[in-house]
Amino acid sequence: MLDRYAVMGFPISHSLSPVIHQQFAEQTGQKISYEAIEVRPESFDQAVEEFFHAGGQGINCTVPLKELAFKKADQLTERAKFSGAVNTLKRMEDGSLLGDNTDGIGLMTDLCKNLGLSLAGKRILVLGAGGATRGILGPLLEARPECLFLANRTIEKAQKLKAVFAPLGALDVSTYEDLLGNKFDLIINATSASLSGDVPPLPNGILAKQAVCYDLAYSKKPTAFTVWGKEKGAVLSVGGLGMLIEQAAQAFYIWRSVRPDTKPVVNKINTAGRH
Ligand code: ATR
Repeated sequence: MLDRYAVMGFPISHSLSPVIHQQFAEQTGQKISYEAIEVRPESFDQAVEEFFHAGGQGINCTVPLKELAFKKADQLTERAKFSGAVNTLKRMEDGSLLGDNTDGIGLMTDLCKNLGLSLAGKRILVLGAGGATRGILGPLLEARPECLFLANRTIEKAQKLKAVFAPLGALDVSTYEDLLGNKFDLIINATSASLSGDVPPLPNGILAKQAVCYDLAYSKKPTAFTVWGKEKGAVLSVGGLGMLIEQAAQAFYIWRSVRPDTKPVVNKINTAGRH
């Protein structure tokens, strides 16, 4: 019998995770099945229990289930503790559930390995202070940037994150309008504004020369934020498909102890150009 894995979320029908994991499995010769299961928050606990009871080995969780997965896990990795969210559950030999969060490492691998950026000494701005931001602040601070700004509409949420991440490094909290006068080498959009085609109200002139814009969201068409970045003169303005594939590769490694090669998967999924 094939070892069984799944991604759970709501909605889930557009998830690329089954295609990504099936390609990893083919490439590495791992005998697994991977399906997408639509699960509403109120039935998450039951769905997880049934899946593992029936012999399942691991689950990826996406919006809006990552915080519930955090609560459901019996043990958490350090990075999952900081993120307050879990995107990867693994059934351990004793039947307990390990919760990890591979979003941050997925982003860092895409930025540093795939796109060739070096973050040390750079000025970085993260937009948004929700769950997506929590998943990426740890590794960004560990990369030793010159500064890491966190801008959000609701300033209190950014201030809360500043306190949570203080043990890992300093965050400069700001409203969008108070960013005026600063320049950044890298701007990462971790708001959910792209989902409704909006861009946070950023002041003009905040892109340094050779600045890069990165949207954690991805879609077939360029997102509103990646369009904004190009219009404002970023040398590179891309969506989060690379991060999605890299976080999946990390999850695959946690489950199977085999590292897939992500490049052919990026190329195959993205034959129409990377957004
Ligand atoms: P996620 O888990 O995807 O991060 P979330 O926790 O609901 O989702 O957080 C959404 C983030 O996007 C928040 O930072 C939100 O700003 P507020 O905290 O001020 O609500 C931000 N956001 C959503 N729509 C936005 C918009 N149109 N402009 C600016 N920020 C937006």
